[in-house]
Amino acid sequence: MCGIVGYIGIEGKTVQVLVEGLKRLEYRGYDSSGIAILEKGHTKVIKSEGKLDNLLKKLSIHSFNGSLGIGHTRWATHGTPSERNAHPHVSGGTSVVHNGIIENYQELKNELKKKGYVFNSDTDTEVISHLIEDFSKNGSSFEDSVRGAFKLTEGSYAVAIVSEREPEKIIALRKFSPLIIALGQGENFIASDIPAVLPYSKRVIFLEDGDVAILEKDSFRITDLNGQEVKREVFSINWDPVAIEKGGYKHFMLKEIHDQPHAVLDTIRGRVSEESGDVYFEGLENIVKGVRRVVAIGCGTSYHSCLIGRYMIENIAHVSVDVDLASEIRYRDPIIDENTLVIAVSQSGETADTSEALLEMKKRGARTLSITNVPKSKIARESDAVIYTHAGPEIGVASTKAFTTQLIVFYLLSIYLGRHTGRLSDNEGRRFIHDSFRMPQLLEMALKLDEVIKGLAMEFYHYKNFLYLARGINYPIALEGALKLKEVSYIHAEGYAAGEMKHGPIALVDESMPVVIIAPRDGIVYKKVLNNLQEIRARRGKVILITSGDEADELNTQIDRLIKIPDSSYMLSPIIAVVPLQLFAYYIAVYKGTDADQPRNLAKVVTVE
Ligand code: AGP
Repeated sequence: MCGIVGYIGIEGKTVQVLVEGLKRLEYRGYDSSGIAILEKGHTKVIKSEGKLDNLLKKLSIHSFNGSLGIGHTRWATHGTPSERNAHPHVSGGTSVVHNGIIENYQELKNELKKKGYVFNSDTDTEVISHLIEDFSKNGSSFEDSVRGAFKLTEGSYAVAIVSEREPEKIIALRKFSPLIIALGQGENFIASDIPAVLPYSKRVIFLEDGDVAILEKDSFRITDLNGQEVKREVFSINWDPVAIEKGGYKHFMLKEIHDQPHAVLDTIRGRVSEESGDVYFEGLENIVKGVRRVVAIGCGTSYHSCLIGRYMIENIAHVSVDVDLASEIRYRDPIIDENTLVIAVSQSGETADTSEALLEMKKRGARTLSITNVPKSKIARESDAVIYTHAGPEIGVASTKAFTTQLIVFYLLSIYLGRHTGRLSDNEGRRFIHDSFRMPQLLEMALKLDEVIKGLAMEFYHYKNFLYLARGINYPIALEGALKLKEVSYIHAEGYAAGEMKHGPIALVDESMPVVIIAPRDGIVYKKVLNNLQEIRARRGKVILITSGDEADELNTQIDRLIKIPDSSYMLSPIIAVVPLQLFAYYIAVYKGTDADQPRNLAKVVTVE
């Protein structure tokens, strides 16, 4: 989704902050970019279609001295990706960058046209700059013009605005789209996400819906749309800016795959006691008391972790779990009551589908818990309680370490629930916790497959279709493996429950169809999956088997490729089994020459429905 950066402070520093910030937001996905700088009260706007490099080329032939400006990377919603539709949009002396959708833009546009405003783009955003300009022309101050304009708009927005009339201020607003302000010494910042400003400031305010922030270089105020001051807490972010760099890896995706042992360890650390067999989560006690049923929701990869979470919670805590796509549950009539715990899972904590579904479930009386990676994100704030994954910033669009840390949270939560409902004994708690301690080391061992998987990718990258099969707790890993491959390499891939093969998809199998089978040895469904393997072999399908244990070697003669992963307990096997699939998708993307970090058409944070 679009990225916003704003800066006010030191003369001559503005372009650097805007450009570096936009670069750090590239992971969100975009198709054009632009900046507006105020210099001696005059606006300079440079925009470009395509990647930021195109904008940089244009910027290099200008010199800039301004001490404030706004920048934007656009992910097209209204109007094609083009320079004309790129932000900022300017009307008179007002420049605006916007993330979100103004739902009543057509109506507003008609009114503004009647007043003589000329539209230079096909965007919904352009109505904002004209509206503010219209209020300003009628004598309102910059602040009042902004408030006046946004009282007329419907929809979602994160916005940053500068005006030639008051060139010592930036105004930022938020409604349903993420936006933060960061505080410096003699300088202040606006951004869609923390990484954009982390090298400059770790003191961050998360704007809330309806907030209007007025930034000057030495001060800031936050009001509501009526001008009433509101207080917001300043948070210290302890993310390391170095963690946001690629750390010697060619892509963020590869770095983040290799971050997993640490990320999983950081997510477990300080939350468990092997001595007592207990798990500790702050603020969860009241929420889980008397819970009869869990409903887990999420989108994409986060949905897959919900599917695995179901196996864990049902098996370990014996609490019944339903799983739904966040984008679907809102359009059903789910049976929700005060004894239902809705768990919303989201890496970014800003996914519109998940956030809207969460609010709807809350309205229906559910207790709510979120599992997210981003501190104080929308979903975290909207839920009754939150458990953070400690994956650190995930920049690659394809989710990797966020996924495995979500899985370890589900595992710990299952133990927590089991202990609190009295269904899990101390001894069982101890055993489950003990198993979790082995995960960082087992992940390290799985990552040693890197070179082997690279070779495998070399062999298979020219195939046009793939099937991924698994059963039981690893069935969602088949879905996740297929999603990873689709996302980053643009190869068609489908994940299927192995037992469903004979009910249809087996018709697809021939020598041109590689089938990736995920069957860790410890699995209770291992033998059954091996039967499916024979069915595929009989139809000349190419089989890549991902399994564990010593007996695996005996299978070598029956399949095309054997990938041996380390043994873990059955409940934790998905965390290991997904690693070769992440690497496989990554290296296939590299061989195909697609952009693994920013695949086409995708955005890291999906803030539109
Ligand atoms: C994962 O690789 C995808 N990029 C995507 O499916 C993602 O998981 C989904 O959009 C949900 O995002 P969230 O976890 O930030 O809510």
